[in-house]
Amino acid sequence: MISRRTFINGAAGCALGVVSVGSYSHFLEPRWVEISSVVIELKGLSKQFEGLRIVQLSDIHHCEYVSKDFIRKCVRKANALSPDVIVLTGDYVFGSNNYLSAAAKELSELQAKEGVLAILGNHDDKGSTYDEFQKNGIRLLINEHIVLHRKKEHLFIAGIDDLWRGEIDIKKTLKGTDKNPKILLAHNPDAIEIIQHENVDFVISGHTHGGQVSFPFYGPPLVYSKFGARYASGFFREKNTILYVNRGIGVSNLPVRFFARPEITLFTIKNSSQHV
Ligand SMILES: [Fe+2]
Repeated sequence: MISRRTFINGAAGCALGVVSVGSYSHFLEPRWVEISSVVIELKGLSKQFEGLRIVQLSDIHHCEYVSKDFIRKCVRKANALSPDVIVLTGDYVFGSNNYLSAAAKELSELQAKEGVLAILGNHDDKGSTYDEFQKNGIRLLINEHIVLHRKKEHLFIAGIDDLWRGEIDIKKTLKGTDKNPKILLAHNPDAIEIIQHENVDFVISGHTHGGQVSFPFYGPPLVYSKFGARYASGFFREKNTILYVNRGIGVSNLPVRFFARPEITLFTIKNSSQHV
């Protein structure tokens, strides 16, 4: 028989546990940024680009729960990684487009030797994001690519429109590219269905936030993807295309993260003769 005292102690312990988990997932983990270092091996990469450093920030979602100060700290962390290129893979605000100007201003402090490139996410208004980013020196790619030159060599970095909010035109995006490596920014990893038939070497995505809440031995119960938790976060290979899904910086819907820490990714690009 359980005594009244044992019952009260148990209930108090449970309540304390709930409060602790709640506090951790609301106050601590959303600000506990992980820097992930990932080596990506690409076939046909020229010597000039060996060791290219690409830093990714995604899903910043500036809103009342994701402050300018926090974005500033993430920008400093990204700059400290000495990137050659910084890529921003969409979702700059949450709840209101009024946050866009301030988000773009913070992101204007990003420093990369060969440029800062961005794409749109499903929370981003096309016209105003284009204008704000242009004012702040950030190149927004909407179904287009840039050519990155080093001496006589080159590779391509492309960006597509958002799968849900925009209209992807993959043929237009890749028109004029050749057999040199192609890196493509796609906010929503579900777009891999379209991309994997197009000879793209490496796709960089965000959107899923790692589910934002994930349970040990179970994974995230809710991921905004038609594939469920399959592309929640991390490294994947689909046919000849490598896909990486970053967990993002900010939060959307619920202001919590649990076992899905905010992430900044440093990709180091290397040549691979094994990459088929
Ligand atoms: Fe997002």
